[in-house]
Parts: sequence; structure tokens; C-alpha cells
Amino acid sequence: MERTFAIVKPDATAAGFTGRILARIEQEGFKIVAIKKIFMSKKQAEGFYAVHSARPFFNDLTSFMSSGPCVVMVLEKDGAIKEWRNLMGATNPAEAAEGTLRKEFGKNIDNNATHGSDAPETAATEIAYFFSALELVG
Ligand code: TYD
Repeated sequence: MERTFAIVKPDATAAGFTGRILARIEQEGFKIVAIKKIFMSKKQAEGFYAVHSARPFFNDLTSFMSSGPCVVMVLEKDGAIKEWRNLMGATNPAEAAEGTLRKEFGKNIDNNATHGSDAPETAATEIAYFFSALELVG
């Protein structure tokens, strides 16, 4: 069974959307194998998004991700990586399909409610950034 890493971002926790997002996750057949609420420092957000360090939006992105609490999770399902990205929808909520989380809960491309790993290698790295093996309850 495949695992992916997911975040409810600070815009969505501040707006009180955490419960509704978790409900959708379970309705769509994902198993939550790890979950916690964290408040990242700027440095921790920069470490998490290191692959984007050369991008023009890096500073705004890492400031946003360290502006309030996040809920970080490990999700399990057949094809979890792709399935979670499908449920999130397009990066820009304005382009996200009806029924996706970013369409329903995202405000704009900077405040797009959720994060999901894009490949098996990034899922493994991102899970290990936030969780120890003992915290993964299958
Ligand atoms: P990216 O990995 O391209 O998108 P996704 O989250 O869908 O995998 O970008 C990471 C985050 O960076 C994205 O969720 C929001 C932010 N971002 C911007 O703020 N502006 C942009 O132009 C892009 C491409 C991303």
C-alpha cells in the first residue's frame, strides 16, 4: 500500500477547514497513518521546500508556511500519491476542478489549502522530515 505526505496549510487551519478536509480524506478511502499539528519556523519551512529555493515565490511561500499552524499527515491508499494530488486539485484554486479540496477550500495560488508529495522519492523524504518510523501507525 502506497503512502504519501499531506499538509493542511496555515490558510485552511486558520479558516477552520481542518475537520472538513480530514472528513473528505477518510470519505475518499485514505487511511491516516500519522497526524500532528505543528507550527513551523521560517527555517523549517525553508528546509521542507528546499527544492523550490531558486523559485521567485520561495520567500513568500516559506513565510506563508511559517505564518500559522499546519496539520501534517501520512496518508495510505492504493496509488496514494496520485490519488491525493487528484483530490487536492490544481495548484491554482482558480483552475482546480469542481469537487477538489483546492477548489472548495483554497483562496489563491499562495493560499491553496493543502500540500501533497509529487513522487515516491519526495513522499519518503517529506514523511521523514516530520515523522519518525515509530509515529507511523499502519
Ligand atoms: P508546486 O510544487 O509547483 O505545486 P503543488 O503544491 O501543487 O505541488 O509549488 C509548491 C507551492 O508553491 C504551491 O502549492 C504554492 C506555491 N506556489 C506559488 O506560491 N506560486 C507559484 O507560482 C507556484 C507555481 C507555486
